[in-house]
Amino acid sequence: MTTSWTKSDWRSKPRVQMPEYPEPDALRSVEDRLAKLPPLVFAGEVRDLKRQLGKVAQGDAFLLQGGDCAESFSEFGPDMVRDTFKVMLQMAMVLTYAAKVPVVKVGRMAGQFAKPRSAPTESKDGVELPSYRGDIINDIDFTSDARTPDPERMLTAYTQSASSLNLVRAFSQGGFADMEKVHAWTLGFTEGEGAARYRDLATRISDSLDFMRAAGVTRESAPTLHSVDFYTSHEALLLEYEEALCRIDSTTGLPVAGSGHMIWIGDRTRQPDGAHVAFARGVQNPIGLKCGPSLEADDLKRLLDALNPENEAGRLTLIARFGAGTVSDNLPRLIRAVQEHGASVVWSCDPMHGNTIKSASGYKTRPFDAVLREVREFFEVHRAEGTHPGGVHFEMTGQDVTECTGGVRAVTDDDLSSRYHTACDPRLNASQSLELAFLVAEELAAARRSASPNAAAL
Ligand code: PEP
Ligand code: CO
Repeated sequence: MTTSWTKSDWRSKPRVQMPEYPEPDALRSVEDRLAKLPPLVFAGEVRDLKRQLGKVAQGDAFLLQGGDCAESFSEFGPDMVRDTFKVMLQMAMVLTYAAKVPVVKVGRMAGQFAKPRSAPTESKDGVELPSYRGDIINDIDFTSDARTPDPERMLTAYTQSASSLNLVRAFSQGGFADMEKVHAWTLGFTEGEGAARYRDLATRISDSLDFMRAAGVTRESAPTLHSVDFYTSHEALLLEYEEALCRIDSTTGLPVAGSGHMIWIGDRTRQPDGAHVAFARGVQNPIGLKCGPSLEADDLKRLLDALNPENEAGRLTLIARFGAGTVSDNLPRLIRAVQEHGASVVWSCDPMHGNTIKSASGYKTRPFDAVLREVREFFEVHRAEGTHPGGVHFEMTGQDVTECTGGVRAVTDDDLSSRYHTACDPRLNASQSLELAFLVAEELAAARRSASPNAAAL
């Protein structure tokens, strides 16, 4: 099917949520420069991730995807990358230990810069300007200059993504992610029930490692204990950027998005005949598809055909984001549509985007309780349908921000102003993320016990 596909096909399709650049020549010049730069990720890595997601689709692994709502140029720094990476490792450790299942780790990171918005313009004190669409497109300052889309920003985003990725690769392979450091990862994490439970679990893991060492398991015989596979992902919204970084995999001769390992299509840009689907269908990467309440079963079937015509396991991750209280109205009908279609997919739960509210103090926030409730409902529906709850998708950070209310170290409405740093949607902080990981681990362990009751007897 991809034989007739070209990376520019999207240009003749209806597009939504994309900027109009005022200077086409400047845009073309940036696209030309990007097209000459190396891809950020390589086809072999993309194939590995697809293989691992294939195991998730078959019920033999679990996907943990998380990171910023929007990366920003001003908040960027090595500590931020390290802390988010570290919390994701901790969460993965909790999941692996409690549910005894391999965890595929994918950051919303090193490329997550472009944002769909609910309105094209924003008004303040009688002044109307274009909405902020993410640092890769325009600037958040409320001036006409700042809000004008500037293609040069794509080059800054590319450079920042390359340095984030460089750091993440170093952390993954260079010793930081060594399981023997499971205790060291708790540093900086002094309070909260999540931290205490994590320390307890870290002790048990160290004991197991001591036992394995005594039994003769060495660094050489078990290299997977000493490094991790960590992948990147982002919403493929800005298609000029995606096209410029699309490359041909020399091994297979097929096109690959070079901007990140996994790309996803947002809930607002998933029109089956639209530009975003037209681009994503032709690249070999694993594709995510956000599924909100307005997605009809028929459209989902058209999207399954367009995005995964060969029904390859690991190619497509359906990311359900309905909102607490509405999962049972929506998820079963979509699960059944997938089953009627005989499609192999990963089902993941994004409990963030259906639960955004405006707090009394005026901040955009998400109540931690609603996030937990949506996760529970997701697991419940999969239990009832007999399908695999394959993963979770969070907006989170390793920093101690106050953006979502609730959690064990309760963040209140009044606290939101103290450390509210997100450029876009509110993120879980490190403590809330870990608390959530324990809940997901319990749900996942229960799901696995009910899927294979004999395992419980072992
Ligand atoms: C997002 O993931 O940041 C996002 C905009 O999500 P959705 O497309 O589900 O609204
Ligand atoms: Co978001």
